[in-house]
Amino acid sequence: MDTLHTALGARGSSAATSTPPLVRPRRLRRSATLRSLVRETVLTPHDFIEPLFVADGISERIPVPSMPGVAQLTIADAVAEAREIASLHIPGIILFGIPDAKDETGTGAYAADGIVQRAVRAIKDAVPDLIVMTDVCLCEYTSHGHCGVISNGEVLNDPTLELLSQTAVSHADAGADVVAPSDMMDGRVAAIRTALDGHGHASTPILSYAAKYASSFYGPFRKAAESAPQFGDRRGYQMDPANAREALHEVELDLEEGADMVMVKPALAFLDILWRVKQMSPVPVGAYNVSGEFAMVKAAAERDWIDGRAVMLEILHSIKRAGADFILSYHAREASRILTWG
Ligand code: PBG
Repeated sequence: MDTLHTALGARGSSAATSTPPLVRPRRLRRSATLRSLVRETVLTPHDFIEPLFVADGISERIPVPSMPGVAQLTIADAVAEAREIASLHIPGIILFGIPDAKDETGTGAYAADGIVQRAVRAIKDAVPDLIVMTDVCLCEYTSHGHCGVISNGEVLNDPTLELLSQTAVSHADAGADVVAPSDMMDGRVAAIRTALDGHGHASTPILSYAAKYASSFYGPFRKAAESAPQFGDRRGYQMDPANAREALHEVELDLEEGADMVMVKPALAFLDILWRVKQMSPVPVGAYNVSGEFAMVKAAAERDWIDGRAVMLEILHSIKRAGADFILSYHAREASRILTWG
């Protein structure tokens, strides 16, 4: 401590008597125009994918209290929102479905006339140029809320692969542009790739939720999607937030299995992972700015504890700066309006 104080003191006093600094990074910060000229990370509406929730058996939108501006939508609402999203030059959406009935094996997930399948058809029909991604998972469709088939309280890996494959094929049949498995079963990218190829969908890309953590930041989503596990938790299949090397392993496996794009999720508490994945990934890297990250900003802003708009933009810039090629975010529309019109 003493040595440190002495060193700092010595430096302080010599600085006072020495010549003024030659290098002054502040020179480039003196005006908004200069700052914008040298800005390293430029966020645009093209960076975003917006998540939408479509629900079966509802007659009007049901707002999600912990996610201001987000709602469970009817298919008609989802079409209207898709049009608005496209008009803001946001390239795409990712769809989550809430079925009107759940069962042990999540049949609603792979039903040809399931909620997501119908929504994809309607949206692609109305807004053909908007990229429609679908989340491929069973948790919104299973009565127990887990992401796979259960036996003796355990999620079985290999039997689940077959159901995920059927789900992905049914989404592609409906016209989904990209399928995005979020279940974290081992081998699912290869299984889905084989199934898609076998059903005439060799050109449908897979966006793999490759490094998906067992995160508490998914809380508001699980209320919105009615997908909370009815017993236990997801730590038996999603990753331990304490691990980094394992994320790189997951990404490598998904790449070997044929993933066209990989994703890190959540984003904010995992920016180091995003950075590392970006360094090693030959394919585009997405980041999911998840529900809890969104809810924290909205809740604090509502109390006037933070400037919600500024914090939102800072977070989104940080995610892009850390390496995201695109960002899945509930902020997509609000941010895009600000980025376009100020
Ligand atoms: C489905 C899925 C989840 C999210 C995306 N896909 C929830 C979970 O794994 O429990 C979370 C997204 C968010 O929090 O915004 N497995």
